[in-house]
Amino acid sequence: MSIKKYQSRVESLREQINHHNYQYYVLDTPDIPDAEYDRLLRELQEIEQAHPEIISPDSPTQRVGAKPLERFSEIKHEVPMLSLGNAFNEKELRDFDRRILDKLEIDNFEYVGEPKLDGLAITIMYRDGILDYGATRGDGTTGEDVTQNIRTIKTVPLKLSGNGWPKVLEVRGEVFISHQGFKLLNESQVKKEEKTFANPRNAAAGSLRQLDSRITATRPLEIFFYGLGKVDGNNLSLSHFETLKKLQAWGLRISPEARLLKNVQACLDYYKKILKVRDSLPYEIDGVVFKVNLYDLQKKMGQVARAPRWAIAHKFPAAEEMTRLLSIDVQVGRTGKITPVARLEPVTVAGVTVSNATLHNQDEIDRKDVRVGDMVIVRRAGDVIPEVVSAIKSKRKKGARRYKMPTSCPVCGSDIVTLEGEAHARCSGGLYCSAQRVEAIKHFASRRAMDIEGLGDKLVEQLDEKGLVQDVSGLFGLKLKQLSELDRMGEKSANNILLALEKTKSTTLDRFLFALGIRQVGEATASALAQHFGNLDEIMRANLESLVVVPDVGPVVAENIKQFFRDRHNQSVIRKLIKAGVHWPANPVKITNQKLKGKTFVLTGTLVSMSRENAKSRLKACGAKVSSSVSKKTDYVVAGENPGSKMSKAEALDVKVINEKTLGKMLVE
Ligand code: IVH
Repeated sequence: MSIKKYQSRVESLREQINHHNYQYYVLDTPDIPDAEYDRLLRELQEIEQAHPEIISPDSPTQRVGAKPLERFSEIKHEVPMLSLGNAFNEKELRDFDRRILDKLEIDNFEYVGEPKLDGLAITIMYRDGILDYGATRGDGTTGEDVTQNIRTIKTVPLKLSGNGWPKVLEVRGEVFISHQGFKLLNESQVKKEEKTFANPRNAAAGSLRQLDSRITATRPLEIFFYGLGKVDGNNLSLSHFETLKKLQAWGLRISPEARLLKNVQACLDYYKKILKVRDSLPYEIDGVVFKVNLYDLQKKMGQVARAPRWAIAHKFPAAEEMTRLLSIDVQVGRTGKITPVARLEPVTVAGVTVSNATLHNQDEIDRKDVRVGDMVIVRRAGDVIPEVVSAIKSKRKKGARRYKMPTSCPVCGSDIVTLEGEAHARCSGGLYCSAQRVEAIKHFASRRAMDIEGLGDKLVEQLDEKGLVQDVSGLFGLKLKQLSELDRMGEKSANNILLALEKTKSTTLDRFLFALGIRQVGEATASALAQHFGNLDEIMRANLESLVVVPDVGPVVAENIKQFFRDRHNQSVIRKLIKAGVHWPANPVKITNQKLKGKTFVLTGTLVSMSRENAKSRLKACGAKVSSSVSKKTDYVVAGENPGSKMSKAEALDVKVINEKTLGKMLVE
């Protein structure tokens, strides 16, 4: 390639990659598949490697600096990084609004509401649209130069997109790690036998203050921008909300939750709305921030000490509280999973009284070194089940002992076993264990499964205590007299239950499969199985190879399915259910067929879109034979990348050679 040619190719590649980064990270609407993106990036890397003189610091390949630093240098903030005053309730927010009204002597102005992310404040300087440096807040006046690390965050553009940005543009935002990112990060830390992080905030702080940016590059850091520092050369806009829009247009990610609010009442409504969705947001927030929208008005309000008078953080009730761990019990789940549960002195966490919290498993208890009698931190976040985060060791009473899970099931006395590679211990009692039995029946009756109206958890527990049902099929043999003699049951409700049971006998194969409670077979998998095989007999007979062909079913799930149906007890329960009258319409969609029956395939070279094992089992599921050597009997040789000698043999024997794409088509058509 001539110099001119590769230079223009490099420019075009950089432009395309920046565009896709913007689509993916800022707008959350990727417009090309990952593989295509990787291809562009690889091409750029290759050209740059061959011609290092054209590497520029804003090239999308230049996110990771090579050398670890010895320490961070200091950066002085020309515009100080302020903090925010807090409002903890409605009155304090109304007081804040009143102070503004009084000072501005106007009664009509808008606020902008944004979630208050629980991460770390960061400032990033762009000069002529190119990332110059990034720094932490530090004491508000001087921070640390973390440019190398900031450059590794994919959501931070190395070069602004669009046009019209000021010559000097300093933007401020919050760096954080999502719940999911945090989970994966800690899992990988455990695998590497490295220290895990206590919460997403600590993980973000630790990652941002890494001296080796190659480590930072592996951390799932994200950013939302929420304001400005120094701006020179172009009057940006008149209001905060307009600025946010502009930042977004230049490729800087802003919170999708930011809203313009017309008065304090709208702020209070916004607070309630965000509080409601708090647990479903993919990241941790600890409140919302309200800012006067117009810059003119902000300027008139000025600041006190280190906080502006035109903005406030309206904090949510704390999602973490401290309380005493009274005891640890273990709970047995539907599939025998044993979960240690902390019994706590009741405490209000983020507005909800918590007296039980999960301790996950023995490994987690050991890692956190939580002991009965300890003061512990309890958290409710992201999901609804509260968890014990840590123990406060300085407050530990003398003689507190490490906790060890029981070795036999507290419900049925069977051994508790931990299978290799599994974090969770399980009761080995199967349906002999009443806890598992009860959970299995509850699941069977639940709304998304068989949907047996009126058969709630309490009733199932009574049925089990009285010995009225041994397994789910027993439900259909219940008599009116048996039911009406139970606590809080009259003849009328008993009759309703019988009617509901009768009604649910007519069901669908999807629901029925889900209701059986096969490990790791949720609604989606149940429905995929029903679709694929069309009837129960085939699913019960299916071998591993034909199971893994079903979308959503990997080798582990396939093994669970096979084991479930191989179990004699399960087979008998299914027979009894059908005998009792449970039925479903025949499923007309039957995708499995034997269209490649009698054909022999040989695979050679590396397949890109599927593993060789997967290709083999998919071929077999279609009735084909897969052989390891080419002969006259071979019908097709599938050639992947770098095919071997089998290819020339095929040519010599005049056997048809197809590529991976054609194979893919044969498998789905
Ligand atoms: S504005 C002058 N907006 O909260 C305004 N801060 O307690 C300064 N924070 O140091 C900050 N989300 O780290 C602002 N949407 C948001 C925020 C936010 C989180 C953090 C930020 C700041 C701290 C102040």
